[in-house]
Amino acid sequence: MANVIIVGTQWGDEGKGKIVDIYARESDVIARFQGGNNAGHTLVVNGEQTILHLVPSGILHNRKICILGNGMVIDPSVLILEIEALREKNLFPPDTKLYISENAHIIMPYHKSLDGARELRKGAVKIGTTGRGIGPAYEDKITRTGIRLSDLLNGETFCEMLRRNVEEKNFYLTKFYNEKPVEYDAIFDEYSGYADRLREYAANTSLIIYNEIKKGSHVLFEGAQGCHLDIDYGTYPFVTSSNTSAGSACCGSGIGPTKIDAVVGICKAYTTRVGEGPFVTELTGETGERIQKAGAEFGATTGRKRRCGWLDMVLVKESIRISGITGIALTKLDVLTGIDPIKICVAYKTDTGEFTEYTPSDMKLFSQCRPVYEEMDGWSEDISKAKTMDELPVNTRKYIERLEALAGVDISLVSVGPERKETIMLDNPFA
Ligand code: GDP
Ligand code: IMO
Ligand code: MG
Repeated sequence: MANVIIVGTQWGDEGKGKIVDIYARESDVIARFQGGNNAGHTLVVNGEQTILHLVPSGILHNRKICILGNGMVIDPSVLILEIEALREKNLFPPDTKLYISENAHIIMPYHKSLDGARELRKGAVKIGTTGRGIGPAYEDKITRTGIRLSDLLNGETFCEMLRRNVEEKNFYLTKFYNEKPVEYDAIFDEYSGYADRLREYAANTSLIIYNEIKKGSHVLFEGAQGCHLDIDYGTYPFVTSSNTSAGSACCGSGIGPTKIDAVVGICKAYTTRVGEGPFVTELTGETGERIQKAGAEFGATTGRKRRCGWLDMVLVKESIRISGITGIALTKLDVLTGIDPIKICVAYKTDTGEFTEYTPSDMKLFSQCRPVYEEMDGWSEDISKAKTMDELPVNTRKYIERLEALAGVDISLVSVGPERKETIMLDNPFA
């Protein structure tokens, strides 16, 4: 029996989708537990690319249970389109089931309007959000005005809650942000249609997962974003509006921590970031551009160019501690092929001292940190066909071994290309 949480250790886009798809083979249940369609998880199987924003990355496998947990915020229009697209392409296997937690919160049009209006007003100090209404939807959850799937499914409740929300949100939108108001009738009609479409998927997903665990099924909890976008531990305020670290998997799926056996942290062999915020190892010159091109580093959700830099082990080590990571899946190692030397950041220097164990909470100080690098020799051989560590060049192995020593946990998988098959499996947490 193994119940495993997968989280990103950096600022998202570490390759979680690919790794979840691989581990899903041995899992019975694949559950998302936070975030919404700010996520973009990419799977490549036999040359065909699938980008998922809401549906868990286990969906391509038959006889699985895929769950959108209570900790998520769900835009129904995006979810319906995603399900339709999967069905049209025959990528939704007949014996795979999809369930949405009745407690998950629903993203409404006013959330998206407010997300955009706030960013506009912030101007130069904007967060660089995905504009999907994620922050405002979580805000409503915390202020207890949010609309959950179960509320949407009950016409009377929905009607009352929507009326109150539209009144309040229109006050902010028109009086504070100088934006257009939203229309109650149009939203009611549109969302009643979504309710009809989503009713068949609504369930008590905590109970479903619990019963599966009792039967001995394997559960994979699929994180979105990365630990440094966590609302508590990330580079606040340049973060997303949910807890992205492993502890969130329990609250966001309704499963107790005693049921978790392992936590795999996904770590890209270098660092990327979309949106604003400090980035100590950022490379703004030629090497950064080279990594951006070789790694095709464009946002899977917004298409924005991702900022690129050297691997920052101060960030990764902090994620390992905060998420209790037991193994690392190292991704996109092939992207570093041909770059020599390769640098790894092992500490941050400031005018008054060094950070090695944690990142500064003060964003002004974080922005002033300078990286302390170790240099490693690179390699030029194509590594994308390697199936075992022995097939990797000596310098590639040395890079992996150095990361493992710095991380203090085992590297359990090495990814050498976007395809499912371009993977070196070292220690399968489900085995
Ligand atoms: P996620 O949000 O963590 O699931 O990551 P994304 O899907 O947003 O971004 C990762 C990108 O890298 C996708 O385009 C993947 O297809 C691709 N990818 C994943 N692993 C590898 C790898 O080992 N090598 C290369 N070259 N690409 C990879
Ligand atoms: P996956 O799951 C990378 C970033 C946004 C922005 C900040 C806040 O694909 O790794 P939000 O819309 O969440 O309020 O934006 O968080 N962000 C991501 N960056 N990958 C993601 O998801 C992200 N989800 C949000 O760019 O900086
Ligand atoms: Mg992504």
